[in-house]
Amino acid sequence: TKKSVILGIETSCDDTGCAIIDGSGRLLSDSLYSQTAVHTRYGGVNPLVAHELHRMNIDKAVTDSLQKAGITIEDVDAIAVTTRPGLLLSLQIGAKYARYLSRIHSKPLIPIHHMEAHALVARMYHDIQFPFLVLLISGGHCLLSLVKDVNDFELLGEGLDNAPGEVFDKVARRMKLRNIPEYSKISGGRAVELAAKKSTNQDLFEFPLPLARYRDCNFSFSGLKDSLERKLLKKEEEHNAIGDELIPEVNDLCAAFQLAVAEHIAHRTERAMMYCEKNNLIKPDNRVIVVSGGVACNNFIFKSIEYIGNKMGYTAYRPPPAVCTDNGVMIAWNGLEKLRIQCDVRTDFSFKEVEPE
Ligand code: KG4
Ligand code: ZN
Repeated sequence: TKKSVILGIETSCDDTGCAIIDGSGRLLSDSLYSQTAVHTRYGGVNPLVAHELHRMNIDKAVTDSLQKAGITIEDVDAIAVTTRPGLLLSLQIGAKYARYLSRIHSKPLIPIHHMEAHALVARMYHDIQFPFLVLLISGGHCLLSLVKDVNDFELLGEGLDNAPGEVFDKVARRMKLRNIPEYSKISGGRAVELAAKKSTNQDLFEFPLPLARYRDCNFSFSGLKDSLERKLLKKEEEHNAIGDELIPEVNDLCAAFQLAVAEHIAHRTERAMMYCEKNNLIKPDNRVIVVSGGVACNNFIFKSIEYIGNKMGYTAYRPPPAVCTDNGVMIAWNGLEKLRIQCDVRTDFSFKEVEPE
C-alpha cells in the first residue's frame, strides 16, 4: 500500500469536501465547497438547501482535487466516503457518487464513520499511538471517546442536549453578531471567539457550571444557552436595543459565555482522564488527548484542554484548523488507515449507501 492513492469524499452535513492522499499520508490535494456562509444567513443548516448544494458541487469537488493532484481517477487505488452519521440527504449525494465512481472504474470502496474520521485524522499530523483519548466538539456532535484502534472506539460520554457548535451558532445569531460586517460570513463560533477577544471586562457576566455534581463524562449546553438568553434580554431592555442593534456589552457577554463553555468542556474532559487513569485504559507513557471537530478551532477552548491535560500529564493535539472542521482529508486518511489493516474495504459494491449510526 506504500504507493496507493486514496480519494476521500465527505458530504455528511453542509460541506462538500474531497481530498487525495498517498500511501504515506501525504496530502496531494484538497478541495472544499463550504456552505457555511449560505446557512449562516438562514440561521442553521437547511437540509434541502444542503442537499441541493452538494448535488451542484460534488462533481466539481472531485474533478478539482484530481486536477490539483495531477492525476486521473484511474490512478486512484481506493475511494473512501462518509456513510454515517449525518443528514440523510447530504450523505446520499457523496455515497451515491462514490459508489458510481468505484463501480465504473472498478475501485475498492471504503465506507467511513464521520466521527471516527474526525478523531483519527490527528494521526496524519502527529505521531499518536493507540490507545488515546479524543474529544469531539462540533456543530452536530459532542463526545469523549477512547480510541483503542482504527476500528475500535469506546464511548465515554456525550452531549445530552445541544452540541456546543450549535449553541455557539444560536447565541451568535441571537446576539446579532452577523450584523457586524466582520462576522457576517463566518461561523457563529468563530464570531463569538473574535468578539470575546475584544472584551474589556470578562467578569461582567457569570455563568453556572453545567452538570457540576455529576461524576460522568456527559455534556449539557442548553442551560448555558438559556442563561445567556436571560442576561441578553435584561441588557436589551436596559439599553432599549431593538431591531438590528447590539447591546454595548456584547463582547463581554461573548467572553463570559466562551469561558463557561470552555470550563464545562475541560471539566468533563478531566473526568474522562480520571476514569481512564483509574481503569488503566491509557498507558502512562502515552497520555494523549486529541481535540477535533469545528469547535476545536477555538483557541481559548483548546488552551483550556491543554491546561487540564497538563495537570493530568496528558499532551493535547489537534489537527490544523481547516482539518478540524468537516473536510475530505480526514475521510481519505481514515480510508488509508482502514486499507492498511484491510478493514471494511468493499470490492463487491454491495454496501449500503447510507448506514445507521
Ligand atoms: O465539524 P464542523 O465543521 O461540522 C460539524 O460536523 O458539525 O463544525 C462546525 C461548527 C459550527 O457550529 C461552528 O460554529 C463551530 O464548529 N466553530 C467554532 C469555531 N469555528 C467553528 N466554534 C467555536 N470557536 C471557533 N473558532
Ligand atoms: Zn464534523
